This record gives sequence, C-alpha cells and structure tokens, in this order.
Amino acid sequence: MSAQIMDGNAIAEKIRQQLEKEIADLQGKGCFPRLEVILVGEEPSSKSYVAMKQKDCERVGILGQTTRLQEETSEETLLALIARFNDDAAVHGILVQLPLPGQISEEKVIAAISPDKDMDGFHPVNIGRMVAGADCFLPCTPAGIQELLKEYQIDPRGKHLVVVGRSNIVGKPFAIMMMQKKPWANATVTVCHTGSGDVRPYTRQADILVAAAGRPAMITADMIKPGAVVIDVGANHLDDPQAKSGYRLVGDVDFAAAKEIASAITPVPGGVGPMTRAFLLKNTVKSAKKFHKLEGLSRP
Ligand code: GUN
Repeated sequence: MSAQIMDGNAIAEKIRQQLEKEIADLQGKGCFPRLEVILVGEEPSSKSYVAMKQKDCERVGILGQTTRLQEETSEETLLALIARFNDDAAVHGILVQLPLPGQISEEKVIAAISPDKDMDGFHPVNIGRMVAGADCFLPCTPAGIQELLKEYQIDPRGKHLVVVGRSNIVGKPFAIMMMQKKPWANATVTVCHTGSGDVRPYTRQADILVAAAGRPAMITADMIKPGAVVIDVGANHLDDPQAKSGYRLVGDVDFAAAKEIASAITPVPGGVGPMTRAFLLKNTVKSAKKFHKLEGLSRP
C-alpha cells in the first residue's frame, strides 16, 4: 500500500491564511510586524530561499525587507547592520541567511542578533531555553516538522524517533524538541550522523524517521521499517539542464521506493520546506506581539 503523502504546501497555506487575519487585527491595534532578512553573497539557493521569504511576508502583510550585501562584505559591516536592526524598535525579527562567506564567523553573527529578534531560534540564549523546555523562538524547520506531525495526528509520544543528521539548524534542535516531556513530543530519540558508520540498524528501528543529512536519496527503502513515518528534510540542488532553473530539488529519501514501505511520507519539494517558511512568519508575528505586549511567547 502506498503511503499517505504529507502535504506541507496545504498546511503552510492554512497557516498563512490564519496569520493574514491575525496580522490585519494587529495592524488595527497599531502593531505592524516587520522582518529584516540579510543575504550576503550570490549563492543561488540562498537567493531563491530569501526571495520566497520576502514573497511570503508580502502575502500575509508582514513588512519584509531584504538587505543584499556583496560576497566580500566584512564581518564588521554585517555586525554593524545587525546592531542597527537590534536598536530599531520598529524591527521585530532579524534573519541572516546561512551559510555565510568564509571571512564572516557564523557563530559571531548569530550571537550578535538580539535573542528577542532571533527568528531562527539559533542564538545561544534561545537554544538554551529550548533545551531547558522554556519560552523561546523555536528554529523554523524543527518547529515546522512538529506542526506537520500535529496536523496529521502523528503523535511522537512513546515512539522511537530516529534523526539522521546532527546539524545545528535541524538535527540537533529537532532531537531536543522531540525528547521534551511535552505534547507532540515525548519520543525516544536516536541521532545518527557521519560518525555512526552504517546507519541502517538504527533507521530500521524508527517509528518516525527524519532524514536531515543533506545527501540525495541516501535513505533507501531497505532502511525503512514497514509502516514508519518518513520525514524528508533534504533540499539538495542537483544540476538539471532540462529544468528552467538549471537545477532540480531532491530530498534525502528515495521517495518513489520509500512511499511503498512507509505509512506516511513528506515529498520534496512540497513537504518540510513550506513549513519552514510558514514558521518564520509565525515567529515574526509572535515577536511583534511580544514587543507590543499583546501576547507572551508560547512554550516549545
Ligand atoms: N540556511 C538554510 N536553512 C536556513 C535557516 O533555517 N535559517 C537561515 N538563517 N539560514 C538557513
């Protein structure tokens, strides 16, 4: 039997519609959510992600501005821009698109963003809060996956959830979120990575398998337990001269084969990606409400 396809586009659209209404209401109260996105350099996939984020903001009524800086921009210049946005009371959220060029320390940049405007939830203060299970901005991709599970009524509680990949953006924070004693979490979590050797013995035990390794089609059907839920976080750009953009987006999972084994699965594109973008909008609205003392932060 073929798996249920988890439609991230549809859920993200539902979130955008809810936010659109909420933002109209906030505007009536004099609160105009504003997000500043900073893009350094010309990396094609980063450019396309940033363009989509800008479009999403326009769609729901967030004042979304993108500052584009040249590849050679110094760390000092970027830090000065972040300081300016930190000090601007009209700015509710800041996002610096990663990766950054080699001359700029990502660690320094992330730490320079005010934790109150850190829409990625990457600042050490927000990560610390998340680990402790306290109020924080959650990283957008992990939060988006959790929302997707919730929408499809797939409760991780008591399940064995295996994450392949330990990035700071997805693998690590998602593993932490899923082990919390909270609703839509409370799983037994295993994290596999490049040091694990053969990951198959682990992935085959997963009730929920999260592929976030950044390796095209590395999860093959024989690595999946029959009936498992498969979440594909991969967004690998493969050259494709036949595609209009010159590339094709493929996930970390061999989708065609995996969907015959899994009970539910996310496609690429149209699964996790749209949920990540939707959560950025949600975080921005949450921040704007907090600044205007209209609502506190919710718990992860
Ligand atoms: N690059 C890839 N994913 C992300 C993300 O979630 N946030 C930022 N800032 N950069 C990214």
